[in-house]
Amino acid sequence: MQVEPAAPLRAIAHLPGERGLPLLGHALEFASDPRRLTERLRARYGDVFRTSFLGTHAVVLLGEDALELVLRDRAQAFSARLGWDLSLGRLFPNGLMLRDLDDHRRHRRIMQAAFTTAALADYLDGMNARIAEALPAWGRARDLRFYPRLKQLTLDNAASVFLGVALGPEADRLNRAFVDTVEASLAFVRVPVPGLALHRGLRGRASLVEFLRAQIPARRGGAQTDVFSHLCRATDDDGRAFSDDEVVDHMVFLLMAAHDTVTSALTSTAYYLAAHPEWQDRLRDASASLGAEPARYEDLGALALHQQVFDEALRLHTPVPYIPRRALREVAFRGHRLPAGTHVSVVPDFTHHDPRLWSQPWRFDPDRFGPSRAEHERHPYAFVPFGAGAHTCIGKRFAYLLAKVFLHQLLSRFHLRLAPGYVYRPEQVPIPKPLDGLPLILEPRAG
Ligand code: HEM
Repeated sequence: MQVEPAAPLRAIAHLPGERGLPLLGHALEFASDPRRLTERLRARYGDVFRTSFLGTHAVVLLGEDALELVLRDRAQAFSARLGWDLSLGRLFPNGLMLRDLDDHRRHRRIMQAAFTTAALADYLDGMNARIAEALPAWGRARDLRFYPRLKQLTLDNAASVFLGVALGPEADRLNRAFVDTVEASLAFVRVPVPGLALHRGLRGRASLVEFLRAQIPARRGGAQTDVFSHLCRATDDDGRAFSDDEVVDHMVFLLMAAHDTVTSALTSTAYYLAAHPEWQDRLRDASASLGAEPARYEDLGALALHQQVFDEALRLHTPVPYIPRRALREVAFRGHRLPAGTHVSVVPDFTHHDPRLWSQPWRFDPDRFGPSRAEHERHPYAFVPFGAGAHTCIGKRFAYLLAKVFLHQLLSRFHLRLAPGYVYRPEQVPIPKPLDGLPLILEPRAG
């Protein structure tokens, strides 16, 4: 595959924008308030502007047309691998998102075996069981912090549904390795300094790799239905299976891709439900026919309103706010010339708050996704929390499934409340998460 070197600053100096501080560029401003930085640069330079970040020079393209150009990528002019390599390449080499073109297509087709309707229906029992085990303790906890509890639950869920193992205390080492690897994917400092996250993450990755590799022979011959076992057995149209290295690289990437995104999205969903008790009642009414039982696959239709609430949380706090690419050849957008090698960033989070597309965009209003308003259909790229085009999130249906069955069990058991005067201020990057862990009051429901 063609490897296009990154364009140096002088190659994109003709584009509007600025360098920011020496060496740091806009890194500090971005870390402290990325939305304000975007607004500031947009007010000054328009919807196409140049920015710099710790020595990397990139061009930000704003708006739904930019999302379409880059994500749909009809001309196959953008590389996801070279876009993500900077932040994810060391910890997650060869993950699906770090592959391009024919190589990506072949790997994605094989991986689909783990995401068929039948496979998803199989995962449901494991998800429901982990949720049912976790929730009673949440109800008893004093000073519950929702975010770390949910993180533990999504981790246990990943162990059972993805790996087909239970991560009990005896599996501490694996648990630690997993947490370290996932945490490191969000680390700000991208140099493996001992004691810092990336260094721990690389060690974690090595342990995960060792664990996965040792299990592959048994999984290839076995009949287990977890994601890992599916990947070990899946083949393409020519009967070719993934090699051991490929299975390992895909699994480590999948564990990361599935974990923080879902945790982030369900945390903001829980916050908005607690802040809007009328929506808790509406969801309980909508799923009244299921009673308090965990939802089965055939019940998911009754949880359509749950999806609207989840979508509204994804819109307001988009877990992947920015999507990077590198241009493989020269591209034109709105009269601007982007040379081959340009780092490009498109911004779903910006478009998800665009007042031209959404009425009162900063307001929590899940009815906007209902059939009578359908604001998300005002443009095919108005709502892209899972991306679009060849790299559309392969776990999108998995994420909706988990969100629906989790919200159903949570609301069947508890009324969600906030302390009076509580203000939700999630950190926005690298992924939206509440620094205070989101203190929630869970009042058991009668009956
Ligand atoms: C709310 C939860 C999630 C969100 C918001 C999300 C978001 C995204 C986005 C925006 C992309 C596209 C990135 C790009 O174009 O460069 C993506 C890709 C991907 N996601 Fe997700 N994701 C979520 C959950 C999951 C889950 C649960 C899994 C696995 C079970 C998963 C696995 C992947 C994989 C493998 C890719 C790469 C796809 C490819 O390159 O073909 N994600 N995700």
